[in-house]
Amino acid sequence: MKYAIITGASRGLGEAVAKRMLEEGISVISVSRTENESLSELAKEKNVPYKHLSCNLSLDKEIQEVFSDIAFSLFQKNPEKIYIINNAGMVEPIETAGNLDQIPVLRNIQVNLIAPILIANIFFKKAQNSDTTILAVNVTSGAGERPIESWSVYCSSKAGLNMFTRTAALEQESLGTGNQIIAFNPGVMDTGMQETIRSAPKASFKDLERFQEYKEKGLLRDAAVVGNALADVILGDSVINGQIYNINELLK
Ligand SMILES: NC(=O)c1ccc[n+]([C@@H]2O[C@H](COP(=O)([O-])OP(=O)(O)OC[C@H]3O[C@@H](n4cnc5c(N)ncnc54)[C@H](OP(=O)(O)O)[C@@H]3O)[C@@H](O)[C@H]2O)c1
Repeated sequence: MKYAIITGASRGLGEAVAKRMLEEGISVISVSRTENESLSELAKEKNVPYKHLSCNLSLDKEIQEVFSDIAFSLFQKNPEKIYIINNAGMVEPIETAGNLDQIPVLRNIQVNLIAPILIANIFFKKAQNSDTTILAVNVTSGAGERPIESWSVYCSSKAGLNMFTRTAALEQESLGTGNQIIAFNPGVMDTGMQETIRSAPKASFKDLERFQEYKEKGLLRDAAVVGNALADVILGDSVINGQIYNINELLK
């Protein structure tokens, strides 16, 4: 049996990947603060196990509790493979360094960087004494490689996520575990995150008009197209451990 644990499956890219997994007959565990009822309806229709667990990924205590429980119950079933899609993310705070408030900074780094590290750690540890292999996918951004003014926190969190991915991949390789960890840059998508970007005050975001134009000119990709491309990579048999996949390369 194969399982997919998907953070941020309540909407956007996470919802799209969860739907594709259910279509493929892969059991889904969705983790976010709110539940998307359409996933449980699809799971019933396809007769595939599905569960939603509420978790605020900005709180490390909740991460430890929820993901340790998931790992405990999944490994009891001795699954062949567990996919972990660390997709949940937030772009805020959109503000220049010097004008940042402490709480949004901490929350961003917790959700975008610390949560994926803690989750991978829990599952790699649990997999040590099992026949189960893990494929962890960290959803990153082009902003992890390219600075965008007023996104210093988001850019830093995604840059950190890329480096965690590459380092942990080398470790799993050296340990000979068979586990893999990759990152995926989804490009610009028509989701709630882009709405948040477009609603940033002009005074704090120099590139506001560029992002408004992406929407006006129809340049934002549909999350379903991107989710299917990601699913094709992870369900295929040629995943390259440590690779940072880019949607623009995949859809060429
Ligand atoms: N949209 C883009 O153009 C774009 C571009 C590059 C990279 N990305 C990356 O793609 C991923 C998905 O983005 P998206 O556009 O689909 O975003 P989205 O529509 O804003 O959805 C974000 C998801 O993350 C979850 N989330 C946020 N904060 C959370 C928290 N504290 N605890 C638990 N879950 C939380 C949300 O669930 P709840 O609110 O229900 O908790 C939601 O399901 C992100 O990692 C993002 O950085 C997006």
